[in-house]
Amino acid sequence: MSGFIFQVPPRIVFGAGSARKIGEEAARLGNTAMIVTGRSSTTRTGALDKVVASLEAAGLTAVTFAEVESDPSVATVEKGAALARGKNADVLVALGGGSPMDAAKGIAILMTNDGPIQKYEKKQPAAAGTPIIAVPTTAGTASEITRFTVITDPAAKVKMLIAFAGIIPKVAVLDPELTVSMPPSVTASTGMDALTHATEAYISKVGNQLTAVQALEAIELIGGNLIRAVMNGGDIEARQNMLLGQMLAGFAFGNASVALVHSMSRPLGAHFGIPHGMANAMLLAPVMAYNRPACPEKLTRIAQALGEPVEGLSLRDASFAAVDSLEALFEETGLPGRLSEFGVTEDAIPQMAKDAFASGSTNNNPRVPTVEDITDIYTSIL
Ligand SMILES: [Fe+2]
Repeated sequence: MSGFIFQVPPRIVFGAGSARKIGEEAARLGNTAMIVTGRSSTTRTGALDKVVASLEAAGLTAVTFAEVESDPSVATVEKGAALARGKNADVLVALGGGSPMDAAKGIAILMTNDGPIQKYEKKQPAAAGTPIIAVPTTAGTASEITRFTVITDPAAKVKMLIAFAGIIPKVAVLDPELTVSMPPSVTASTGMDALTHATEAYISKVGNQLTAVQALEAIELIGGNLIRAVMNGGDIEARQNMLLGQMLAGFAFGNASVALVHSMSRPLGAHFGIPHGMANAMLLAPVMAYNRPACPEKLTRIAQALGEPVEGLSLRDASFAAVDSLEALFEETGLPGRLSEFGVTEDAIPQMAKDAFASGSTNNNPRVPTVEDITDIYTSIL
């Protein structure tokens, strides 16, 4: 048995109604909370009002920065940090999907370190960020428990990945009631992102015994609840299981990393604006079909976690069952299945294949691809 290092997670407040505890949690960290959220959905659903009420009831001053776009930019992070400084905010409450959580992490860095934020892609900030309470309203990115943030620099046309332990939220509040208003397509795409995290963490060459346990449980929870949540958004049990599954997947990939699906989905986002979860969803089964001969035992465990009857099957057939099961689950989500539906053309594939090949995640993949292999996978789903 080999040893491992595991990044310590934040304090987790989990379960229906847990959003009411945000104020109490924030009071332990500061006096003035700035809520970092998107432009409309948390206002429309009432989630923002709930958070403000909880903070005020606990005696905090609440400031709202409701300007985070999807794929938050450098400018948004700078603007948020200026507001937080002006209001003397000493705790940040990130409310929403991956984008508000990413923005809050960027703001947290700029509150305690010099700008520009771009320099922290290559170099670790000197000081830990302002404390963050992360409150996800989707079930997919697990940004509430990871050290990662992705900030877009439109001038350089790049998405910067910053990895820094000093921005892991101090508290993650996971309340399934905040996720019931997610529309089916967002439930599906964020859920498929989480399933991709779990699957890739499990097959990753840098996974360990602890990440394997988390990843398999995540696959079982997501596989058993994603379609229920897509079909009936108000199914609170399915919503809670999805939140738990995506969080476990986050622990797993935060330590075992992701692999070729993520290498290939990033160029689809950069070149064609395909939402991250939708790109992963299309790629997951084809990439696992490619990986299957390199890790048939692991694929068999994935098939079991997805509830496939593999007893009595040969290793080969059992591993194929995982690929078929992932494909069937994806079809049931109703998400688009072909790259051409997003405007991808054949002539764009060579550059994307080169970008995917060069991505750091590619090295974690159990089967080492060539640029031609990656080209073939893109072409197969064009
Ligand atoms: Fe992802």
